Amino acid sequence: MTDDYLWFEGLPFLVLGYSYEVIKEVCAQFVIKDEDIVMVSFPKSGTHWLVEILCLIHSKGDTKWIRSVPIWERVPWLESDDGYNLLNDREGPRLLATHLPFHLFPKSFFTSKAKVIYIMRNPKDILVSGYYFYTMTNISKKPESVEQYFQWFIQGNVPYGSWFEHIRGWMSMRHRENVLLLSYEELQKDPRSTIEKISQFLGKKLNPEELDSVLKNSSFQVMKQNKMSNLEILPEEFSSSHFKITRKGISGDWKNHLTVAQAEAFDKVYQEKMAGFPKELFPWE
Ligand code: A3P
Repeated sequence: MTDDYLWFEGLPFLVLGYSYEVIKEVCAQFVIKDEDIVMVSFPKSGTHWLVEILCLIHSKGDTKWIRSVPIWERVPWLESDDGYNLLNDREGPRLLATHLPFHLFPKSFFTSKAKVIYIMRNPKDILVSGYYFYTMTNISKKPESVEQYFQWFIQGNVPYGSWFEHIRGWMSMRHRENVLLLSYEELQKDPRSTIEKISQFLGKKLNPEELDSVLKNSSFQVMKQNKMSNLEILPEEFSSSHFKITRKGISGDWKNHLTVAQAEAFDKVYQEKMAGFPKELFPWE
């Protein structure tokens, strides 16, 4: 349990498993290679779901890998201590994940052909998901109530800072041909077509049986049962033994948690901060 964050360049980071030196080195020096595939998101946007889909596309639907290797080893977290070490030693095409905001992302990306997939989600659902996540784990400051976390979120006083800044930064890359923008909501509405879109973007063709397997084995129910993917086997210091990343897995759970006044206050900030972006870019109301 911690009272504060790890601060880097004015941005709050997770405390457990992260260090100032590694974050600094990653941002300044990490070399992104042409064959790398990078998953980017603000925390709680559905990152682990996307990672699972990617692993399954990579193995052409074969489940051996996702059932035998923890998700954080398959797809290391770039800015975490362990993730950085794993990536530095890894040969060949690498799958990696990061929550880094655009302005801190390694600049080597701009001269590489690496593929980036950015997954976004309704920020009100991200807020609720984050409230539960940080309450149940020991990796960051624990909120005492939804109201307190609501204030933190609006102020950007949560791990990786302001959701608004995060999405604004990465959105500026959306027209690049090596960047794919996805949403949690479209994955949920039409997982089969979205998985096909991802595999096309990656240039990995799946036959119908392989696609069926990716779809089935990345579903909420199956992921919830897979210890290698649901974070159930995280070392005890990180979370309580009952913790799983697969909490509810729905869109619109914010309606069960935010008051009308909170939702209105959120919408007001949203309209100010997101002015200038076409509404159609985002699949939430
Ligand atoms: P909820 O807390 O709303 O349930 P991240 O991986 O970025 O931390 O995001 C976690 C969120 O993604 C959680 O949302 C979790 O339940 C949801 N999630 C994880 N796997 C999923 C899946 N296979 N299908 C749908 N949602 C999933």
